[in-house]
Amino acid sequence: MTPKLIAIVGKSGCGKTWVAARMAALLSRPLVVIVHTHQDPSYFAHIDEASTRLVGVHRGAQPLGTPFLLDCIAAGVRYVYISIYELGPNAAREWLDSLVPSLEAIGNLALIVDEAHRFCRHEYVPERLVELPRWARSIGIDVVFVTHRLVDLSPDLRTVLTYLVMFHSDEPRDLDECSQRLGMDRAWGDVVRSLAPYEHVVIDLEHGRRSPVRVI
Ligand SMILES: Nc1ncnc2c1ncn2[C@@H]1O[C@H](COP(=O)(O)OP(=O)(O)OP(=O)(O)O)[C@@H](O)[C@H]1O
Ligand SMILES: [Mg+2]
Repeated sequence: MTPKLIAIVGKSGCGKTWVAARMAALLSRPLVVIVHTHQDPSYFAHIDEASTRLVGVHRGAQPLGTPFLLDCIAAGVRYVYISIYELGPNAAREWLDSLVPSLEAIGNLALIVDEAHRFCRHEYVPERLVELPRWARSIGIDVVFVTHRLVDLSPDLRTVLTYLVMFHSDEPRDLDECSQRLGMDRAWGDVVRSLAPYEHVVIDLEHGRRSPVRVI
């Protein structure tokens, strides 16, 4: 299946993590690695211990190596939840960058990075995590970034996205960029501005189409 590079974008509390948690179940990969920064009930509501590993990352923690991830796959684990809420943004970036080579070595998996605005900002220079999407598709990795504003993500990263899940926004730069990617569909900005709580649209950036408004 062609890998997907997805951004889920919206303000705090709009339902991004709720959608990401359901998306995790739908991605057709044997292993789904989910990075999150706070205990979030959306992720933990349906945890089945046999298919899940919980990893808490502390300051000075070693990266998760390839053997750990291979062991997970061999043991039938589908979800690896990595909590990095004990790390500040710089330590978290460093740790996430150190995780990327293991993900690349395994391939055929999905990576979901929640609260990506904390790690994937424009000025973020240690770039392994931010650059991963540029070749993720060639090694069978789906990448999902969950963030507050589309423009939080670097222009390079935005260029390679294949899908955008948009919640209500009145951020002009986000609306402009999406209108451009949809071939200047002027009605688009109005659709996104008028989305009700939990409503969102899924935009297929490769084909310039959008879904009807939906609440899962
Ligand atoms: N479609 C929905 N129907 C009912 N409740 C929902 C729906 N989507 C989200 N919620 C609830 O709304 C609350 C906020 O959702 P969520 O945590 O997904 O927001 P968020 O966009 O990830 O916020 P933040 O940016 O602060 O992490 C949660 O309690 C969640 O269970
Ligand atoms: Mg969230």
